[in-house]
Amino acid sequence: MGYFCPMAKSADHFKDVISHAKEYGFVVPSSEIYDGLSAVYDYGQNGAELKNNIRSYWWKAMVQLNENIVGIDAAILMHPTTWKASGHVDAFNDPLIDNKDSKKRYRADVLIEDYVAKIEGKIEKEIQKAKKRFGEAFDQEQYVSTNPRVVEYRKKAETIIKRMARSLEKEDLADVKTLIEELEIACPISGSRNWTDVKQFNLMFGTKLGASAESATDLYLRPETAQGIFVNFLNVQKSGRLKIPFGIAQVGKAFRNEIVARQFIFRMREFEQMEMQFFIRPGSQKEWYEQWKEKRMKWHLSLGLGEENYRFHDHEKLAHYADAAADIEFKFPFGFKELEGIHSRTDFDLASHEEYSGKKLQYFDPELNESYVPYVVETSIGLDRMFLAIFSQALQEEELENGSKRTVLRVPSILAPVKAAILPLVKKDGLPEIGHKLVDELKCHFNLQYDEKDAVGRRYRRQDAIGTPYCITIDHQTLEDQTVTIRERDSMDQRRISLSEVADVLKKEVDMAGWLARL
Ligand code: GAP
Repeated sequence: MGYFCPMAKSADHFKDVISHAKEYGFVVPSSEIYDGLSAVYDYGQNGAELKNNIRSYWWKAMVQLNENIVGIDAAILMHPTTWKASGHVDAFNDPLIDNKDSKKRYRADVLIEDYVAKIEGKIEKEIQKAKKRFGEAFDQEQYVSTNPRVVEYRKKAETIIKRMARSLEKEDLADVKTLIEELEIACPISGSRNWTDVKQFNLMFGTKLGASAESATDLYLRPETAQGIFVNFLNVQKSGRLKIPFGIAQVGKAFRNEIVARQFIFRMREFEQMEMQFFIRPGSQKEWYEQWKEKRMKWHLSLGLGEENYRFHDHEKLAHYADAAADIEFKFPFGFKELEGIHSRTDFDLASHEEYSGKKLQYFDPELNESYVPYVVETSIGLDRMFLAIFSQALQEEELENGSKRTVLRVPSILAPVKAAILPLVKKDGLPEIGHKLVDELKCHFNLQYDEKDAVGRRYRRQDAIGTPYCITIDHQTLEDQTVTIRERDSMDQRRISLSEVADVLKKEVDMAGWLARL
């Protein structure tokens, strides 16, 4: 250790992330040969492995570690009434506005929020200036509540947000437009203030079931996986003889026709969710909501990406189904943004499905000797967003002692696409044969790469760039004493171990079991 120095992430770190993801087979635009499809992406050979490993770490932490949580796999296509009952047909909308000059479309609430973020930026500047001026004696709380300029800024920001929330809640879209005009918000592209009216835009993708146009049924591609869990609530509870409290977990694709789809795989039109609905007694939701907030944060922190990169954000404006909600936010290259949501969904969904389907969705509680519609606390995380969090945080440039640079993807070893690279020093003298034999011995346990091309230093760099935690080099000494060099990705330390020890060393370091045990 100690012979490299991590370099500060460049201002263009996000651009580096996107180009590294493409260059090393992690993520590419979908159907790229036709110039791609906006906000739809494909995962390449390394991306698919990393994504599988994240999925598996989540699934095991949910289903394997909790006796009272089971996993299912529901269909993407669901009966259309599902989306009426869930409220998505009527309420899964974003308010959109077009700029008549640039012809660009925006989310009206995002334009206003960006405006407020600028005011918050000014407050932060004032605080930093005052911090410098007052030094040790600076009392931030007192300063922000008494400094006239800061008080004025805060009042302005609060008034704007409150008015926007009120207008959106009342569906007063004309006032949302008036607010944009009063604030003199201009189109970031054209600089013009020539806006259309604000309209609601439903985010669900429609499709058709059936062969002929007359008999076809209109369907939606599911915008969240949660509803597949709700409609199966009784099937799972009965067939699994589950007692409340219990959870149902699911991983699967979801689709949203996002108005503003940008920031790479942060906001996609086709993405994957990892959701868990926890069914509880009515009245116990506060307690479970707090427990799940804590449990989910612990899961995130277990990956070692740095405590300072996470924070909670409690929702003020609640979704149509929630009585409390918080996000776990992560510090992405473009700032703190939502990574996961924890929602107390009350009995909204089950009660509504009861009403629309005419089927009872109740649980008989033997301890209370009564039946009720359970309440639900949900944890919901985007797999692709989790991928971006890990990938962008892990990608680092380092300056080595000899002045050269290396790019290294410091992903947690259990998530690494390739766990070890087997590298014969030369392509002769029986070294490749030993390498192939080692691959055969290990390949049932670990995803490996065998590489005999180029100088070993270049091969190490290639593995660093895809995050391989260990490189095993076979050289002429191996022929004599059956030992190999094992090189560790992060420290670049090298040591010799015997061939027969390799499997155990890898098992100890890259096996998920050890990490799960610490949760
Ligand atoms: N069932 C609740 C639900 O769907 P949400 O806050 O709309 O709640 C949950 O979504 C998570 O899904 C988000 O925290 C985010 O990680 C992910 N997500 C949502 N929309 C996404 C999109 N367009 N692209 C990628 N991930 C998305």
